[in-house]
Amino acid sequence: MDPPPVVIAPSLLAADFAHLAAAAQAVEGTADWLHIDVMDNHFVPNLTIGRPVVESLRKTTELPFDCHLMITEPERWAVGYAEAGADYVTFHAEACQDPVALARRLRAAGTRPGLAVDRDTPVEPYLDLLPEFDLLLVMTIKAGFGGQELIPQLLAKVRTARRHVRAGHLRVRVEVDGGVSEQTIEAAAEAGADAFVAGTAVYGAADPAGAVRRLRALAERGVAAATGC
Ligand code: DX5
Ligand code: ZN
Repeated sequence: MDPPPVVIAPSLLAADFAHLAAAAQAVEGTADWLHIDVMDNHFVPNLTIGRPVVESLRKTTELPFDCHLMITEPERWAVGYAEAGADYVTFHAEACQDPVALARRLRAAGTRPGLAVDRDTPVEPYLDLLPEFDLLLVMTIKAGFGGQELIPQLLAKVRTARRHVRAGHLRVRVEVDGGVSEQTIEAAAEAGADAFVAGTAVYGAADPAGAVRRLRALAERGVAAATGC
């Protein structure tokens, strides 16, 4: 089966933490992945979800898990998320000395590795590492909190990454995270993103599944405009 042209990944960060399983199930069948933000109160000031919660959630939904680790020492913890059942495990370039070595360990553990760059990190130094990854996560805010506005200037990194991916015929997805909404998703898709994290825009909506469908339609329009088909 061909991979979906766009991936919509609702972020549980904006869901009711007392009802995470219900939040996952609310987008089952409409979303492609479930984005799970792991924050450790060190790499970012916020503190959220850890491995035991991912393990418990794994039993409640068929949705692939897109785990976004905003933590220090990912070398120590990331493989644990693969073992907990994450389909994608993304760690931050700023937190890791040897991203390729960790990507290989994650792949050996049966998961797809992702590399994230935060607001103030340029993407260029990491472009040559992308053949080792399945996902490049470009933060479109400063990592740490949901509900912020997308910073349009950061889409330049998405354009750079997409050009590189096209030129190298790489299969890596380019994911945007932060402030993705019905107002901003089309521009992010036109810039070259093909995976879209959305927290507030999905779980802040009265009908999360309807919000996913609307976001997908807008993203597909942006991808079509970008690729000319
Ligand atoms: C923030 C997280 C995001 C967050 C996005 O650091 O990485 O995934 O949930 O939230 P919204 O979509 O509300 O900007
Ligand atoms: Zn995230």
